[in-house]
Amino acid sequence: MFELMDEWGPEKVVTVNHQRSGMQGVLVIDNTARGPGKGGTRMRADLTVQEVARLARVMTWKWAAVDLYQGGAKAGIRFDPASPRKEEALRAFARMLRNEVPSEYVFGLDMGLAEQDAAILCDELGDRGAATGTPAALGGVAYDALGVTGHGVAEAVDAATTHCELDDRRVVIQGFGAVGHATARRLDELGYRVVAVSTAAGAVHAPDGLDVAELLALREEHGDALVDHASGTRLEAGQELMLETGVLVPAAQQGVLHAGNADDVRARLVVEGANLPTDEAARQQLAARGVTVVPDFIANAGGIIAAAFGMRDRYSPFGVEVEQIIPTVTERMRANTRTVLETAERSDTLPHAAAGALARERVREAMRLRGQLPPT
Ligand SMILES: NC(=O)c1ccc[n+]([C@@H]2O[C@H](COP(=O)([O-])OP(=O)(O)OC[C@H]3O[C@@H](n4cnc5c(N)ncnc54)[C@H](O)[C@@H]3O)[C@@H](O)[C@H]2O)c1
Repeated sequence: MFELMDEWGPEKVVTVNHQRSGMQGVLVIDNTARGPGKGGTRMRADLTVQEVARLARVMTWKWAAVDLYQGGAKAGIRFDPASPRKEEALRAFARMLRNEVPSEYVFGLDMGLAEQDAAILCDELGDRGAATGTPAALGGVAYDALGVTGHGVAEAVDAATTHCELDDRRVVIQGFGAVGHATARRLDELGYRVVAVSTAAGAVHAPDGLDVAELLALREEHGDALVDHASGTRLEAGQELMLETGVLVPAAQQGVLHAGNADDVRARLVVEGANLPTDEAARQQLAARGVTVVPDFIANAGGIIAAAFGMRDRYSPFGVEVEQIIPTVTERMRANTRTVLETAERSDTLPHAAAGALARERVREAMRLRGQLPPT
């Protein structure tokens, strides 16, 4: 486990082994220089300590990049989330981490965990603030239903088009799930023309603009098959990435833009709604052709801004103050997008590198002020 450690963290790794249920788990507290550790809790049968450590580090950079005062952490439970003994595993995990939770880490939702699991974790520790992501009936917030991440992606699009002085308000969105549909909804409100959307079932294209209200209603009714019912030209999934447009928002899967297809992208601006939709080679090729890419951990940070409200209000008798979330996401996403694009221009680097450097600088400064850096 020592090979996971470097100059940034992790500060603490706790592993637990519950023989009765076969549950094994790990908590990785990566770096708390800017605030207490916060990041989701995942459950997967093949979970590894390395995976949790990597995700905890990602959280360190994400919190710092959006300039919120939380540290990076993540917890993982090696157990089948479909098992009828899930609750037993969750309760054992919570009990075995009672020294760390909630003083050093607060549970949250990630792969394999749902709102009710967050409620179980709180119940086991007898502490309402032991987890965020609890059901609305317990004072929590349904982030996906609110569409905060997609709302934030749309605000990032708008801030970036302003920064790049891009007049072309056509947008193509890959993926019409939790992120994609909320991005479309907000961009429509902001006066953009959504010319194509896709799901795993295929894509639909209308150069003069799709009817977003119709798409949202069709999603409710048909899910991914909405593309078979929407008015517009039907395309194969993937073709939408190469359409003529001002803005492209990949909001489905990772690795969709790579060395092999980046030169065929006709958008002027790519805003990453999904995690890791471009690789380094694609970003270099796009930059060489003057295409700006807004990094995922800036553009899709709406959810973590909302999670910060969950953290702040988790003991509040008023519940999470939902009405503050959307205006804050709007304001933060615009400011962060501007800051990163301006920093990238000033330092003549790509936005991904500029955002990473900014996050590292903030964490290092916090470590310096706390006297955590080694003597020079
Ligand atoms: N939900 C969030 O709050 C959140 C926050 C940050 C990042 N993300 C990232 O955003 C991405 C999407 O997440 P989501 O929550 O919207 O997922 P989701 O499962 O709700 O939706 C995924 C959408 O992508 C579509 N899709 C899958 N494969 C496709 C393909 N090959 N071509 C076109 N469309 C395809 C699906 O049909 C679906 O419409 C993921 O990378 C996720 O990690 C999500």
